[in-house]
Amino acid sequence: MAKIIQESAGEAAGIIRQLLQLSKPDTGLPRNFDLSALVEETLLMTKFQIRESRSELRLRLPTGGIFVLADPAKMKQVVINLILNALQAMEDAKEPVLTVTVSRGAAGAMMTISDNGTGISPEFLGRIFDPFFTTKGPDRGTGLGLSICYSVVRQFRGEITVESQLGAGATFTVSLPEAAKEEKPQAVSAPLPPVVVPIGRETRVLVVDDEDVVRLLLQEMLRSLFGCHVDLASNGAEALALIERHTYDMVVSDIRMPVMAGTELYLRLRDSHPELLQRFVFITGHPGSQTMQDEIAQWDVPVLAKPFTSRKLSQVCRPLLVRPDRGAVPA
Ligand SMILES: Nc1ncnc2c1ncn2[C@@H]1O[C@H](COP(=O)(O)OP(=O)(O)O)[C@@H](O)[C@H]1O
Ligand SMILES: [Mg+2]
Repeated sequence: MAKIIQESAGEAAGIIRQLLQLSKPDTGLPRNFDLSALVEETLLMTKFQIRESRSELRLRLPTGGIFVLADPAKMKQVVINLILNALQAMEDAKEPVLTVTVSRGAAGAMMTISDNGTGISPEFLGRIFDPFFTTKGPDRGTGLGLSICYSVVRQFRGEITVESQLGAGATFTVSLPEAAKEEKPQAVSAPLPPVVVPIGRETRVLVVDDEDVVRLLLQEMLRSLFGCHVDLASNGAEALALIERHTYDMVVSDIRMPVMAGTELYLRLRDSHPELLQRFVFITGHPGSQTMQDEIAQWDVPVLAKPFTSRKLSQVCRPLLVRPDRGAVPA
């Protein structure tokens, strides 16, 4: 799951880079990958839209891969753009059929995406790859899809062409030079997992954050890092109530929260529980105003910026949890 999440985040970043590339082409490092595997993966990503469109999917993939040298994130975006255009063109079709093929042709690796939708009228055929050319309403089309496809395919020394007749659907063909199948390079050594030193269940930590997901994630991370008990509060006021009832070894708190912010929680603890100030950690997705940043800087409290890794969390929290009366805990 983590790998999928990481890959998706990387893809999102890739899509943004692609938009930028239209105005300022970059020289993304091409990789050797199997085009048919990439097409299959992309179809999984668009499974929902294809099902919603009631289209029949006809998929023809070669046995054995067809390798190309390109940027896979960019190529995925090409496939997505072509599929979404096809589905949109078939919205009023009685029996929409989306045909996707990958094959080896005269021009190298070939991919075609065909639909039996509206087709393209001859006067528009020469313009559809132009940036901002669209026949769709402003809420539906940006006119960027095909120009991105064109720019990506050209970047990797390929061609994109279209064949269409009004009322008879459209077929887009992408060809890319075929690359030799490459042995998988040795996996880049994975980052070492954080050192897990059980600090123990007798240790009790309070996590304060107004976002459910962040709270649960922190609870999970802290439990697996330290084996400690983790309580949850969704704002400073809830945290204060819990602090009155239990003894905590550490408080990990978001800064901006409704009802009572983390900064106010910290100030309140100055009076009621000064011993906790040395075991207080701020986490934040947004540094907030400069004045607030300056103030926090004076308090000498660790501030952990989201998103952070488990390793980073461990580095910041471990020293606070290690107490002389428990003996030294290896770093
Ligand atoms: N499969 C298709 N069938 C019919 N027309 C298409 C198809 N793909 C693209 N077009 C035409 O090309 C235009 C430009 O496409 P695109 O660059 O993806 O922008 P957008 O989809 O935002 O309009 C579309 O508005 C449409 O008129
Ligand atoms: Mg489009």
